[in-house]
Amino acid sequence: VNRPGKKVWLKEDVVRTFPVRERFSHKGSHGRGLIIGGAPNMPGAVMMAARAALRAGAGLVSIAASHHLISTIAPYVPEATYTDLNLKTLDIDSFHAAAVGMGLGRSEQSASLFEDILRLANIPIIIDADGLYHLKKMKNMLKEHTAPVVLTPHFKEAADLLDTTVSALKQNPFSLTRAFSTEYGVYFLLKGPYTIITTTDGDQYVVTTGNESLAKGGSGDVLSGILLGLLLQSHHITEALCNGRFIHGKTAEILTRHTHSRYDLLASDVIEGLPMTLRTIC
Ligand code: APR
Ligand code: MG
Repeated sequence: VNRPGKKVWLKEDVVRTFPVRERFSHKGSHGRGLIIGGAPNMPGAVMMAARAALRAGAGLVSIAASHHLISTIAPYVPEATYTDLNLKTLDIDSFHAAAVGMGLGRSEQSASLFEDILRLANIPIIIDADGLYHLKKMKNMLKEHTAPVVLTPHFKEAADLLDTTVSALKQNPFSLTRAFSTEYGVYFLLKGPYTIITTTDGDQYVVTTGNESLAKGGSGDVLSGILLGLLLQSHHITEALCNGRFIHGKTAEILTRHTHSRYDLLASDVIEGLPMTLRTIC
């Protein structure tokens, strides 16, 4: 029997596997991504995720948000396009990948929207934040879902999803997440100072970049955007996830070494710091 492997993902792995940007490429070559969130009281999450996806190299990004919000958000992410948060106007499969849940809200309406997305989507989807909250009640749907699904919970969200406690999960993070990934057929990115990425086959990768400057609201939304950006450009989901989490943490390290402290760093600063990290890798 082949035992699933464990590996620490290093800078040399990023350099070896980072998607190549071809001289004669066009925006379509770098993927069309969709970010579904943007409840009326949470404009920031989708804004940051979209900007992060574009900074990470996505070709085109579209935001699905409450129509009340669109004119507020648009000036901050002028490179994106916008649609109403409504499946009548949203053709999910016209995109190459999607991220759902950041600033989605927890209302009944958002729960049924989330359920419809999970039933209909035939593209790779990242599920984060309020998407994970809704998923708890419908996780069996994952077993029928054939397109790739990536879950990006922090420890509390993961414990809730796995029907366990944070302390039990902290004692056995590798085996508990591996059991869930293989049972439900999902990629699992367990966020923390050390992040454990588990594939649908049960292989596991650890990414250790980053520091406590990232312990601030919005860091997770930026990560989801970066992951979407790389998913759009990569042939391998695992590489996209490991590389995305690596550059997220590395950017915080570089910024807190040169221009920021571990107190003041904002999630948006990580987005604007991505150029420095990418220039050292690509
Ligand atoms: N060291 C290294 N990395 C860290 C550290 C640390 N001490 N603390 C946090 N991080 C990184 C994590 O690895 C992760 O990538 O910052 C990110 C935090 O993500 P989240 O916990 O999802 O944070 P947040 O942006 O606040 O989430 C936004 O989603 O989780 C829900 O309820 C939450 O509404 C909130 C929203
Ligand atoms: Mg979060």
